[in-house]
Amino acid sequence: MFELVSLSRTVISRSVRATHAFARRLLAELEADRGTEAGIVLALHGELGSGKTCFVQGLAKALDVTQGVTSPTFTLVNEYAGRRPLVHVDLYRVNGSESVGALGLEEYFDGPGVLALEWGEKAGALLPPDTVHVYFEALGIGGTHRKISIGCASPTAGLHPIAQVRPIA
Ligand SMILES: Nc1ncnc2c1ncn2[C@@H]1O[C@H](COP(=O)(O)OP(=O)(O)OP(=O)(O)O)[C@@H](O)[C@H]1O
Ligand SMILES: [Mg+2]
Repeated sequence: MFELVSLSRTVISRSVRATHAFARRLLAELEADRGTEAGIVLALHGELGSGKTCFVQGLAKALDVTQGVTSPTFTLVNEYAGRRPLVHVDLYRVNGSESVGALGLEEYFDGPGVLALEWGEKAGALLPPDTVHVYFEALGIGGTHRKISIGCASPTAGLHPIAQVRPIA
């Protein structure tokens, strides 16, 4: 699907709290690298229940969003006010590039906020080249361990500190 550069990082989260902490750290590192003016696009990948919405809830906390973050499975796009805007999109129920195109995501791609897209792969080529891809995987059945990996789709984009930390295991 996406051609990952070999520079990427994997962590194991053992709890919801750890996933929230990871979201905060990733955001902080991206902001340190890109500044707080530039928009950040995160494409979140992983099966149902793998922790994508939980990660966005962590982003919301880090952005001082006071409103509760719920899954936009039916609303498709939820916007929250924080120290910078957070836009949470869920493409699970959206199929085909035309339907994704009809959501007008470009407005958010160019925006100043943080845009997190669950099932982000469905946006395919619409995603900006500096999109950071985050992959979630539940380890074991019914447990709380999640493997979370970060990668960038383009070797020229997103060569930020995060991507340079350690090679994927
Ligand atoms: N380490 C962990 N990280 C994240 N979530 C965890 C973890 N351990 C347990 N969970 C639980 O797993 C579930 C993750 O659900 P979440 O809604 O975040 O998944 P999702 O990937 O957004 O699924 P969907 O594709 O259906 O939207 C939650 O019920 C959460 O409490
Ligand atoms: Mg979700």
